[in-house]
Amino acid sequence: MKRRAFIALSISAAAWLLNGCGTNGNPDNGNNGTNAGGGSEIGTTSAPLPIPQLFKGEVRNGVRHFDLSIDKAAHSFFSGVATATYAVNSTYLGPTLLLTNGEEVSINYTNNIGEETTMHGHGMHLPAIMDGGPHQMNDPGKTWSARYRVSQKACTNWYHPHLMGKTAEHVYKGLAGLIIVQDDESRALDLPDRYGEDDIPLVLQDRRFDSDGQILYAPTRMEIMRGYIGDTYITNGAIDPFIELEAKEIRLRILNGSNASVYKLGFDDGRRFHQIATDNAFLEAPVALTRLRLSPGERAEIVVDLSGDKGKTLLLKDYRRGKTFLELRVTKDAVTQTTLPDTLTNLTRFDPQNARNTRTFRLSGMMGRLLINGVEMNMNVINERVPLDQVEIWEVHNNMGIEHNFHIHATHFMVLERNGSAANVAENEKGYKDVIYLAPHDTLRVIVKMVDYKDANNPYMYHCHFLEHEDAGMMGQFVVV
Ligand code: C2O
Ligand code: CU
Ligand code: CU
Repeated sequence: MKRRAFIALSISAAAWLLNGCGTNGNPDNGNNGTNAGGGSEIGTTSAPLPIPQLFKGEVRNGVRHFDLSIDKAAHSFFSGVATATYAVNSTYLGPTLLLTNGEEVSINYTNNIGEETTMHGHGMHLPAIMDGGPHQMNDPGKTWSARYRVSQKACTNWYHPHLMGKTAEHVYKGLAGLIIVQDDESRALDLPDRYGEDDIPLVLQDRRFDSDGQILYAPTRMEIMRGYIGDTYITNGAIDPFIELEAKEIRLRILNGSNASVYKLGFDDGRRFHQIATDNAFLEAPVALTRLRLSPGERAEIVVDLSGDKGKTLLLKDYRRGKTFLELRVTKDAVTQTTLPDTLTNLTRFDPQNARNTRTFRLSGMMGRLLINGVEMNMNVINERVPLDQVEIWEVHNNMGIEHNFHIHATHFMVLERNGSAANVAENEKGYKDVIYLAPHDTLRVIVKMVDYKDANNPYMYHCHFLEHEDAGMMGQFVVV
């Protein structure tokens, strides 16, 4: 594995104007054509895709330690422009952490940004005090450690801040990174697994920049409701990047790391690909798709077959807004080949007959605040007490005319029904999920069981993962008792 830091990008000033100012709704952008100078075209790509470093940590006294530093940094989104960011051991985003099921880990975050934050292990099955939620404060100048035994199936998770009221801003400035959990099964499957070569991490985001190329985070009341959407698409921190790939099956580990954008992903030639994993595990079998909807916080691993495509270029795009995330250039012969397996794993499905309780969560809004069951998040209120090992149905109602999603910490769930019918649950939603999308007025029934960790005092969170919504109150707390 080559170590590759995020590199300085060489995007021309013209491309910056076109990508950054020219389309972001900035009132100053009307005349940028006169400044563009070089005749660059929209869509010109000149930056190689940055691959976050893969951190394997260091074993000390039988515990695998990851020593991470949350820093203020400067990142080159645009050539010649130093954009102020927050980052983890990097200039934007952070390294990918490689964890192995069964081992004890300690992820040590030293906070060097001069303000409070927290760092949450999204998708990790861990004790509440190790969750990195709003109660596990990481004070400036201090190190906070998430120490636990990894106890879950192979999947792609992520870490990000979870500071009460400031999650959106801290993520927007650049704090997020991937966590890959591997297990015996994932290592045995004939899947692409050469990190950065045929197993490519993709953190998809959109951002707004001001006319100086600085990250602009200033949502209006309306944008808190609608979500803070940026017109500059960035992939692993680069605008319009490309990657040179082998003519073979390629695995993409995709995180929708945006604050509030639902993406509908696909390739520009309409080609079929296979989703192999949802948020918390492989699917039982690959699911063929041409378009993939991914809402904020959701992950998907897909395999796209480029075997016969040497010399071709394809684009990974968001078809909701017609924008490009990544140009895939098939320039190399396969070093090794893989053949997509027909079956990937076995998942445990709880029988709804065995559910002992149904909890209802109604998502609504009032006067610029966003609510669950009529109340906004209050750090001092435990909203739900969930018995350990009890199978439950959680029913989530979107009572609004806008999109939301629903995330539960520390566990995974399976979707039983959407709008009263199992037939409305897509094939690629029939896996272990920790975030699930709700269209306006959708109702979902999911089945869940809290296992292993009980703690009557320290809560986990459930919330909408549109970060402006979360910060505006659409979150609640549960303890496992
Ligand atoms: Cu991704 Cu409560 O978080
Ligand atoms: Cu989470
Ligand atoms: Cu929401």
